Formats: sequence, structure tokens, C-alpha cells
Amino acid sequence: MKRASNGPDETEEIGYELGKVLKAGDVVALYGDLGAGKTTFVRGVARAIGVPARDVASASFMIIAEHDSTPPFFHIDLYRIEKEEDIDNTGIWDCIGKDSVAVVEWAEKLGTMAENFIRVRISDTGNNRREICVEGLDEKNRHHQ
Ligand SMILES: Nc1ncnc2c1ncn2[C@@H]1O[C@H](COP(=O)(O)OP(=O)(O)OP(=O)(O)O)[C@@H](O)[C@H]1O
Ligand SMILES: [Mg+2]
Repeated sequence: MKRASNGPDETEEIGYELGKVLKAGDVVALYGDLGAGKTTFVRGVARAIGVPARDVASASFMIIAEHDSTPPFFHIDLYRIEKEEDIDNTGIWDCIGKDSVAVVEWAEKLGTMAENFIRVRISDTGNNRREICVEGLDEKNRHHQ
């Protein structure tokens, strides 16, 4: 699925639409350059799960932020991870999957470890526009409520 966004609000809305079809156990890997709009997108996903968008922090010093929703929502930001070997020390594997929904910013750092996740790529196409590509969502099993 490929979508165009004309501003931050639209990016958040596309995140919200994805959030509405996520199920416990889903992991969303987010790719995109600095300032692409990953955190903006996560705010929409969070809102769909019942986490207030204002609770989603940008440029946090935490790698993992846990939100006490149903299902629990984990916002992971791997920006500060330098080596693939360091991923295992973050504790993310204890948060991802199972009964929670997780989103991972800077999923580039996961390399092939993200290949089974839902993958969202955000690219800046100029003038506050973004192209948002979603892969790996088995849409036939997903119905909007
Ligand atoms: N169409 C758009 N979608 C999303 N953000 C946009 C758009 N147009 C402009 N922006 C601006 O781009 C910035 C995106 O910031 P955001 O923190 O969401 O990016 P990010 O990818 O999470 O950055 P980082 O790499 O630092 O984590 C915001 O300042 C936002 O206002
Ligand atoms: Mg961010």
C-alpha cells in the first residue's frame, strides 16, 4: 500500500488508520531519514490503540517507552544504537510480539531481523509532502471496525 501525505496531520491520520487494523502481537518497523515523520506517524498509531498522542515523545532519551493501554503499546526508538550486536541488550525482544503492539523507529538498525514485521517507509517528497509505503500487512485478514 502506498499513500501520499500533504502535512503532519495527514501522516498522523495514516498512522491512525494502520493502528486501527493492528492486532496484539503486531510489530511495525518504521524506516525513514531524520525528520521524515516517523514519530508523527506513531502518534496516530498510538491514538488508535487508546494512547493519547501527546504521550508519544519525540527524541526521547529512552529506547523503549511503554504505554499502559489494551493491548500494551511499546514505542521503541533505535536511533542511538550503533551496532547490530547492541540490539539484544536493549530488551526489545521482551516487548515485541506476544500480547502487545510495538512500533520501532529506525528499523534500519534491525537489518533482516525486521523482515517479518509490518514495514512502513516514509520518504520526504518535498513541500511538506511524504510518501508512505506499507508492506507486510496481510490485508485480507484485516477489517476496519
Ligand atoms: N507530511 C508530513 N508528515 C510528517 N511530518 C511532516 C510533514 N510535513 C512536514 N513535517 C514535519 O517534519 C517533522 C517530522 O518530525 P518527526 O519527529 O515526526 O520525524 P521523525 O522521523 O520521527 O524524526 P527522527 O528521525 O528525529 O526520529 C515535523 O517537524 C513535522 O512538522
Ligand atoms: Mg522520531
